Amino acid sequence: MNKQPDDKILRYRPGQRMVHAVLAISFLLLLLTGLAILWRPLTIFDAGSISRYLHRLGAIGFMLVPLLYLVIDWRGAKELIIESFTYDRDDWAWMKRSRQYFFGRAAGMPPQGRLNAGQKIHHAGVIIMSFFVVASGLVMWFGRDVLTQNTLAATVIIHDISMFVLTVLLVGHLYFTYVYKALSGMTTGYIDRTAAELEHAKWVKEIDSHS
Ligand code: HEM
Repeated sequence: MNKQPDDKILRYRPGQRMVHAVLAISFLLLLLTGLAILWRPLTIFDAGSISRYLHRLGAIGFMLVPLLYLVIDWRGAKELIIESFTYDRDDWAWMKRSRQYFFGRAAGMPPQGRLNAGQKIHHAGVIIMSFFVVASGLVMWFGRDVLTQNTLAATVIIHDISMFVLTVLLVGHLYFTYVYKALSGMTTGYIDRTAAELEHAKWVKEIDSHS
């Protein structure tokens, strides 16, 4: 096994990065084809009903994500779910000062674990909203013929609102990835130790105590 360089810390294992890639690609496919279905100016890209087929393809990829995660990296999937919904004192203190973090100043923020409070909120939001997108999508896919007009209209509203919230979350996700130069965690799997110590001090301490 390759030795980890002293100035780097392993953030995401290969399986986690692969699952994230499936999530990102399937979500973007869903978003683009969803907009093409919804928004008239984009129907120029909707030759025949190709967007509808691609939308279903994206939906299959998106629904496979939790299953893939559980099969490929059970420990990572469990950590993600538990940590996204567990908030301690430092997390609440961090949230109170999140304005500072928003503007790229992590120094002096309350110490954080593997996920900072903002990431926890993002990931929890993704899990909850994905549930609504998938559930309402499946109802439209397979239940269209048996639903009343009103139920169908309510299902469409739930589908569109949850997709909108996921898109807003993605904009924030990309903003923080850029501001904190976090991309290497998902491309190479490693991040700089100094950055990890600054943003995830409790996590680094825990890793060091095991090594
Ligand atoms: C399209 C471009 C995307 C980029 C560049 C990107 C970037 C990243 C990065 C750098 C991380 C690691 C952050 C860290 O913990 O240090 C991450 C994690 C994560 N991202 Fe994305 N992301 C993208 C799309 C998405 C989408 C579309 C979603 C959800 C719909 C998403 C959900 C997540 C989740 C849940 C994690 C945590 C993964 C885990 O713990 O296994 N990302 N992303």
